[in-house]
Amino acid sequence: MGKNQNLWSCKRGILQCLIMVFVCKTAAGQIRYSIPEEMQKGSFVGNVAKDLGMDRKQLSSHGLRIVPSIGRIQYFIVNNGRLQISERIDREEICGESENCILKFQVIIESKLQLFGVEVEITDINDNTPQFLPVEWKLKISETAALGDRLLLPKAQDPDLGVNSIQSYQFTGSSHFSLHVQMEENGIRCAELVLEKGLDREDQPLHDLVLTATDGGDPARSGTAQIRIIVLDANDNVPVFTQPIYEASVLENIPKGFTVCTVQAIDKDEGINREIKYTFQKITDKNAKFFLLNSTTGEIILKESLDYEASSLYQLEVQATDGGGLSDTSKVVVFVQDLNDNMPELAVTFVINSIPENSPTGTVIAILNVQDRDSGVNGEVKCSIPSNLPFQLKKSIDNFYSLVTDSPLDREQVPAYNVTVTATDNGTPPLLTSTIISLQLLDANDNPPLFTESSYMSYILENNLRGASIFSLKANDPDWEENAKVAYSIMEGGMKSPPLSSHLSINSESGAVYALNPFDYEEFQEIQFLIRAQDGGSPPLSSSVSVTLFILDQNDNAPEILYPSPPTDGSTGVELAPRSSEPGYLVTKVVAVDADSGQNAWLSYQLLKATEPGLFTIGLHTGEIRTARPFLDKDALKQSLVVLVKDNGQPPLSASVTVTVVLADSIPDVLTDLSSISTPADPQSDLTFYLVVAVAFVSCLFFTFLLVLLALRLRRWKNSQFCDSGSLNFTGVPVSQFVGIDGVRAFLHSYCQGVSLTTDSRKSQFNISKANNSDMLTNQLTGDVKEPTHAIEDLNLNSGDLIVIQVS
Ligand SMILES: *[C@@H]1O[C@H](CO)[C@@H](O)[C@H](O)[C@H]1NC(C)=O
Ligand SMILES: *[C@@H]1O[C@H](CO)[C@@H](O)[C@H](O)[C@H]1NC(C)=O
Repeated sequence: MGKNQNLWSCKRGILQCLIMVFVCKTAAGQIRYSIPEEMQKGSFVGNVAKDLGMDRKQLSSHGLRIVPSIGRIQYFIVNNGRLQISERIDREEICGESENCILKFQVIIESKLQLFGVEVEITDINDNTPQFLPVEWKLKISETAALGDRLLLPKAQDPDLGVNSIQSYQFTGSSHFSLHVQMEENGIRCAELVLEKGLDREDQPLHDLVLTATDGGDPARSGTAQIRIIVLDANDNVPVFTQPIYEASVLENIPKGFTVCTVQAIDKDEGINREIKYTFQKITDKNAKFFLLNSTTGEIILKESLDYEASSLYQLEVQATDGGGLSDTSKVVVFVQDLNDNMPELAVTFVINSIPENSPTGTVIAILNVQDRDSGVNGEVKCSIPSNLPFQLKKSIDNFYSLVTDSPLDREQVPAYNVTVTATDNGTPPLLTSTIISLQLLDANDNPPLFTESSYMSYILENNLRGASIFSLKANDPDWEENAKVAYSIMEGGMKSPPLSSHLSINSESGAVYALNPFDYEEFQEIQFLIRAQDGGSPPLSSSVSVTLFILDQNDNAPEILYPSPPTDGSTGVELAPRSSEPGYLVTKVVAVDADSGQNAWLSYQLLKATEPGLFTIGLHTGEIRTARPFLDKDALKQSLVVLVKDNGQPPLSASVTVTVVLADSIPDVLTDLSSISTPADPQSDLTFYLVVAVAFVSCLFFTFLLVLLALRLRRWKNSQFCDSGSLNFTGVPVSQFVGIDGVRAFLHSYCQGVSLTTDSRKSQFNISKANNSDMLTNQLTGDVKEPTHAIEDLNLNSGDLIVIQVS
């Protein structure tokens, strides 16, 4: 078709030329030419002279030229009557888009001053190329644009006219579009892109096209433009979570602020359409308390400490929303892992604080309940008690334990227990709780009182004071209170003859033993008896111990001279010593004994007085009287020796005897000698005799008086008991005579007994005056005088003792 067109236009050009020349000739007064634009300078346009009817001669004589018009470009000149182009003629420049482009000027015949108008029509040629300005274009289209949507393309410029102007557009570079060219009213073609295939920015955000505009000239010219089509984002992508469900497992002790989990959603859009905000979709108040969602980062942050025991699982729903409002949801599951963070709990549901020590094995003391809020192994709890205790922890149902006694208990060994019950769980590290159960053992009377020694020995000097404390013993009872309260008593049967109760008394509380009466060593050297200790339990327990009381000798007996026997009938024994006896001759031997023992009975002899000093010696310990030298004639026939026998007591006691030695060779000598010897009266013994008689008389009087008095009193108190008033006979007796209050009490007690026992018999076992002899008598008497009260007491007690004095 283009070929045809060209051919057609060419034909039309020739035709035009012919028509123009023809027209020129026919138009009177006006010469008209038609030329195409862009002809070379000097190109022939037309023969003006000829067309004006001038010949050669006229032309040269008259002259023909173009009348110049001021301010206009002279495109033509007339040369020899021929019109030629003098300047480049661009139709588009001169006439623009107007269809008819005619240049008008006048030619003048100079000599005739004749003006002729000339018109030159400039015809268009295809001298301009279609052109886009600018060459690069950017067009935008939304990715959501519908199929068939149109996008106006830029127009190319081609100032040529008609077919020489733009006739068609083509493009290359994209299959998404087709081109639609449309003719506007003014005949200008404009091109549009029509969307043929859906766009996806995410797939291909840019489409580069090359648009070509082609005119209808011959040859055709074309121009191109670079068109970049930018696909605009639309929020056509929903955000998508990377996981349909997020799972997080955390320990229950993670700190506040810890990021539990991070959710992420991806949106392929761009800009605001890919800006994602995370939110919890539906959240319970409970979960909202614990978790916080960072809306920009998707971090799930712990707000509050977790507790496995409160909840072990949390389910959250998260939503991601992009800037365009599209959203996706996902689930988050948070598993809480148990930690051994709870101590076992021990509760004592039942407890006894005290049990009797003789409770049977298996007695329940306490019931405990143990619990642990942890789960699994962390919640498995074991209970234990120290192994060295006589208790056992028995597991009963579930988590209950009972604490029972496991072996016999003894309060005396351990009076109380603090049983530490420990509950330990199986966690790592294990946690433990403990509680203390205090148990008091109550006493049972299971221990008899026990004496500290297996047997006791004690000593007392004879002639002790009445009520004197002898010794004290103690029995211990490890029991408690009444069960440990010991009472002492003396058991009868230890000694044969006298009842013990008259000799000894024991304070039942203190265990102090008192002598009721003075002991006499010469009567008993030792007393054996049993003391019993009994506690106050029910039934009571008792034990006894044997006691040996040794009575120690006192020098209370003076030596007793057996030979020579003291004079009974006034005559004295006589010893013979031959005059011819050699020195060292044994004349006689003084024999004495002492009822005491030991040192108190160790006798020594000495010559106290001798008629002829130095004639005799006496063995210090033998008592043998020997001659010291040969007898001389001047020595008296009858020698009298006073021998003193002294014991070794402290103080010593002594006795003396007079030994008469006759120096004679034979008995007849002696007899003759004796006749001449009159026994000199001993003035001292006479005095003693009188004194004794006097004292006996006075004593008899006094005793009679007292008997009368006693008889009166006895009648008055006939019916009253002896023991009613202990002070009866002691009004005048100073208490200081006794050892102490205990002694007094013991004394009184035994005294009452003693009186009842002795009133009938009128006979005392302990006769003080037994020690009496001639030397002791004076002491006794002076003693009685010095301590009258003592004497009265003696009289009151043992009235029969008065016989003693009578004897002496
Ligand atoms: C979310 O995290 C970012 C980055 O860590 C932080 O700047 C922002 O303050 C957080 N937002 C909230 C609400 O905590
Ligand atoms: C038991 O514990 C209490 C209180 O700590 C204490 O006073 C008592 O002496 C303890 N008893 C024993 C037998 O340890």
